[in-house]
Amino acid sequence: MDKLLVHGSGTLQGSINISGSKNASLPILAATLLSGEPSIIRRVPDVSDTNYMLQILRALGSEVERSSGTVRVEPADISPEAPYDLVRKMRASICVMGPLLARVGRAKISLPGGCVIGDRPVDLHIKAMQGLGAQVEMEGGDIILSSPDGLIGAEIDMRGKHGPTVLGTDNLMMAAVLARGTTVIDSAASEPEVVDLADFLIKMGARITGAGTRRIVIEGVDELKGVEHNIIPDRIEAGTFMVAAAMAGQGVTLRRVCREHLSAASDTLSKAGHLVDFNEEGSEMTISPGDQPRGCDISTAPYPGFPTDMQAQFTAMFATTPGISVVEDTIFPQRFMHCSEMKRMGADIKVDGGSALVRGVDYLSAAPVMASDLRASAALVLAALKARGTTEINRLYHIDRGYEHIDEKLLQLGGQVERVPAG
Ligand code: EPU
Repeated sequence: MDKLLVHGSGTLQGSINISGSKNASLPILAATLLSGEPSIIRRVPDVSDTNYMLQILRALGSEVERSSGTVRVEPADISPEAPYDLVRKMRASICVMGPLLARVGRAKISLPGGCVIGDRPVDLHIKAMQGLGAQVEMEGGDIILSSPDGLIGAEIDMRGKHGPTVLGTDNLMMAAVLARGTTVIDSAASEPEVVDLADFLIKMGARITGAGTRRIVIEGVDELKGVEHNIIPDRIEAGTFMVAAAMAGQGVTLRRVCREHLSAASDTLSKAGHLVDFNEEGSEMTISPGDQPRGCDISTAPYPGFPTDMQAQFTAMFATTPGISVVEDTIFPQRFMHCSEMKRMGADIKVDGGSALVRGVDYLSAAPVMASDLRASAALVLAALKARGTTEINRLYHIDRGYEHIDEKLLQLGGQVERVPAG
């Protein structure tokens, strides 16, 4: 188990490439199960979550080859049982449910357990499959779904208590592409990752319209073929480096980004007084810290609103930004674990219910801190880059779940970080 030592108060400069999106890769890798033919997916980030997904695909019977960012999956004969040992490691393994049910008429998946960012139920995933006519049983911690006579298209509303569900929309879309008749997904998630999955499915031969809006319509087809696909850039990795550049940079350029996906993060950085400049195509951006940074308020919302996956990183920035900032998370109201660790570094943050009141302090001081989940860990790295002294971030495996070689990218920008084995 590694830890990261961050020698703070340095300056970041230069440019890096942003990796392919983790959250687009996971459902797209699961979607390869929908055809017996091989698919080739490029720009899959080398992070532990995509590696877990590849292990699950192998355990289900697929042949999988990986050569750096390119993955070839051939799921000729597959079994419907996703093994508990692998599934329990990653909540997103739930998204093999739709493809398995659609392709082999049965899926057995362990119920995901608790999650540090809050209660994360799967009721909407189950409602979606039942809506297409699947029978659902619970047995010994597993969900067993079956549809011996095939799935049947239906109109299904996916709105939950906290808005639309991303992986729930993905699961329903993946099941509906092989269902008989038309499926209408109301209150669908419209995140870019959902659109990337729809684009992949359409290449495979699926008939989908409306991805990227709140209403997706799917005409079921009899079979799908294997295809090639490039994953979209990771907007959360890009957003994390944008914040790093605003906090500790001196003109940092991020290449291979998509401007359209980054509007909430770039608008907020501009509102906080920093400079964000895109090239004409919107595929490259340069961020420079402003002379008079100021605190501001953010509230997470489904896309195109401010992403919950960027909340912790902006909280880290506000911790040393003059003024008061109010950060509200409406999607995961318990996602504030990073705040107690940042308080150990001298941040002035009061968490109350689903929001945090942040009073910017002049500086943070290094301290040993504990990563609790993926984005919280990223926020601690950002806080540490700005802090006086050397911060030790333990439980680095959280960050390795979703950031491709973060230490190497920081080193490339001149950051002073060291990955060392935990003693
Ligand atoms: N929800 C339900 N019932 C369900 C499913 C979700 O009530 O059956 C609730 C959740 O508890 C939450 C809200 O709906 O309050 C939205 O959750 P969603 O289902 O959209 O989350 P997800 O699809 O499981 C994906 C990302 C998360 C990201 C969320 C929200 C992947 C692999 N994960 O999760 O990413 O926070 O959407 O945008 O795509 C991360 O990358 O760090 C991460 C946690």
